[in-house]
Amino acid sequence: MKKGSHPSGAPWRNFYGRIHGKTLRPTQKEHLEHDLDALSPGPVDWDVNPDREKLDLDSRFGGKPLWLEVGFGGGEHLVHMAKSYPDIAIIGAEPFINGVAMLLGKIRDAEVDNIAVHPGDVRDLFDVLPDASVEKAFLNYPDPWPKARHHRRRFVTQEHLEPLFRVLKPGAEFRVATDIPDYVRQTLEEVPQAGFVRVDHPDDAAWADWPSTRYEQKALREGRRPHYLTFRRP
Ligand SMILES: C[S@@+](CC[C@H](N)C(=O)[O-])C[C@H]1O[C@@H](n2cnc3c(N)ncnc32)[C@H](O)[C@@H]1O
Repeated sequence: MKKGSHPSGAPWRNFYGRIHGKTLRPTQKEHLEHDLDALSPGPVDWDVNPDREKLDLDSRFGGKPLWLEVGFGGGEHLVHMAKSYPDIAIIGAEPFINGVAMLLGKIRDAEVDNIAVHPGDVRDLFDVLPDASVEKAFLNYPDPWPKARHHRRRFVTQEHLEPLFRVLKPGAEFRVATDIPDYVRQTLEEVPQAGFVRVDHPDDAAWADWPSTRYEQKALREGRRPHYLTFRRP
């Protein structure tokens, strides 16, 4: 085994966020045990797909247009989009298991059947998504990593943006919501560097179908201003 690599062949990818939080309630554990497998987008993890075969999206999603949400947190936005647009399918990626458990409760309550869940790092999902397969992507309130020496951990770095660009279809939209002015700065620098173009949309106007999220509510309570940035993959 190469130093730093996993027995499955997985590359070493640092993940700095939280995977576990508060103890899960018994109903949340039950949802995770019973619901998660059926919501899988297909073999994403290295142990089940060591050769990184691309997912068969047509058979999994019946040819519906595919959207992607990176780091869905508690899943408010993911469920809102699935409910508002029943003719699309949307995959959410989130390594924080308490967030995944919250989402599963919301999926049951909303009775939506067009969501798939990757309970892990979106970079593992990028590996197995075919090129030009995703029509819209959302990055809502990504981890801010405020210290300058941690800025390279942010999602809006080429390590994440290059594979995102590859999996998006030409013409696809990429939305970023954040309350951190320096995150806006880095987004406006790095996202165009990865090949995206900015779409003319006032940065302080929420998108017409924006439902808000837990992190946005916290930002508003604490007096921080949301920014809404829209890009397109040419
Ligand atoms: C500040 S929270 C925002 C959650 C939610 N989008 C909202 O607006 O309430 C950022 C989320 O991104 C997730 N995240 C960070 N890195 C990620 C990665 N590489 N892949 C998927 N999710 C990631 C974190 O686990 C965390 O739940």
